[in-house]
Amino acid sequence: MTSLADVEALDRADPLARFRAAFDLPVGVIYLDGNSLGPPTRAALARIAACADGEWKDGLIRSWNDAGWIELPRRAGAKIARLIGARPDEVIVADSVSVNLFKLAGALLGAGGAICVEADEFPTDQYVLEGLSRLTGAPFQRLAPGEAPAGGVFVKSLVHYKTAAVADMLAMEARARKSGTRIIWDLSHAAGLFPVDVAGAGARFAVGCGYKYLNGGPGAPSFVYVEGREAERLSQPIAGWMGAARPFDFCTDYHPAAGSARFAAGTPPILSLVALDAALDLFEGADLSLAQAKARLLSDIFIDRAAALGLAPTLGPGPRGGHVCFAHKEGYAVMQALIARGVIGDFRAPDLMRFGFSPLFLSYADVWRAADRLADVLRTEEWRRPEFNRRGAVT
Ligand SMILES: Cc1ncc(COP(=O)(O)O)c(C=O)c1O
Repeated sequence: MTSLADVEALDRADPLARFRAAFDLPVGVIYLDGNSLGPPTRAALARIAACADGEWKDGLIRSWNDAGWIELPRRAGAKIARLIGARPDEVIVADSVSVNLFKLAGALLGAGGAICVEADEFPTDQYVLEGLSRLTGAPFQRLAPGEAPAGGVFVKSLVHYKTAAVADMLAMEARARKSGTRIIWDLSHAAGLFPVDVAGAGARFAVGCGYKYLNGGPGAPSFVYVEGREAERLSQPIAGWMGAARPFDFCTDYHPAAGSARFAAGTPPILSLVALDAALDLFEGADLSLAQAKARLLSDIFIDRAAALGLAPTLGPGPRGGHVCFAHKEGYAVMQALIARGVIGDFRAPDLMRFGFSPLFLSYADVWRAADRLADVLRTEEWRRPEFNRRGAVT
């Protein structure tokens, strides 16, 4: 692509262009952070309002039944199941990724072995597993990136949160079976971006974020996938009443719900859950193979233009998720200056500028213009201004 006109031609032919209208995006902003916090769909905003105003205000507690609140964790789970190649009853929406990792790894520890995670894995995955090891006495191993685990429970992101490297799920599962390793996949940066096929790959356990490509909103609950037969065998450590077979029997003994539903724990956050549930409807008509191809082309265009600015992505050619990182020693300030120019990405310490290329709401022209603004920020060196060098709590 050599000009804005070239990429505008791509936009005119883009079969996914129609999805943009489903989002409520601020005018003048080019949002390259949908991989971190997806933007709201109009349907989700309307659903939150309807839930707060009608179902909560007027329906009050009756809405657990009348508005189907109690069914939402399973209903939203079934919608996510389609996106990751699972059966509808194998996915439940609950809690955060951190808590779900604790529950799932805790449930799997019964079979023995160490808890392993790569040393460059997303920090919460490492912290939770190490905490679980302290609690249970199970050995904890921090592996070198790419090192194969030799048994035990292993947590692995399908798409790496910094590099966007995509793991080979099929090959890793085949190796894991030979070594008796149980892999918990963290699908946070994959679900909703490209078709995941847990069943096809033989993956039995996964967790993933609701607020990234699934656009569920800030702090949206996450999801747990457990393959059907495995779920029946497992007992999870936060045996809360919402994961019990009949919570409203109020009996003393805990009997887990059938299948993955036992991975629920406490009362679900309904206002968040309705937003996620509504946002998920967007994927009904979305072909995620097309989304994957578009994300790739969007990011390739940006990488080409960044190369002209002396920036190289941290990941070489090969499979890549939906985001791209560039190392820059002033990356934080450059990103702040870029945000001030209406292009929103984020920064990952120590020096990475991260840009996400969500295919359902971005146009090729957006990406072209974002690269123009990045060029301006670097050329003018406006990132040197003090206001762009003050770190916020969230980067
Ligand atoms: C790969 C990965 N796992 C887990 C999380 C955090 O999940 P949660 O905040 O739901 O615990 C993130 C957040 O960005 C992430 O990127």
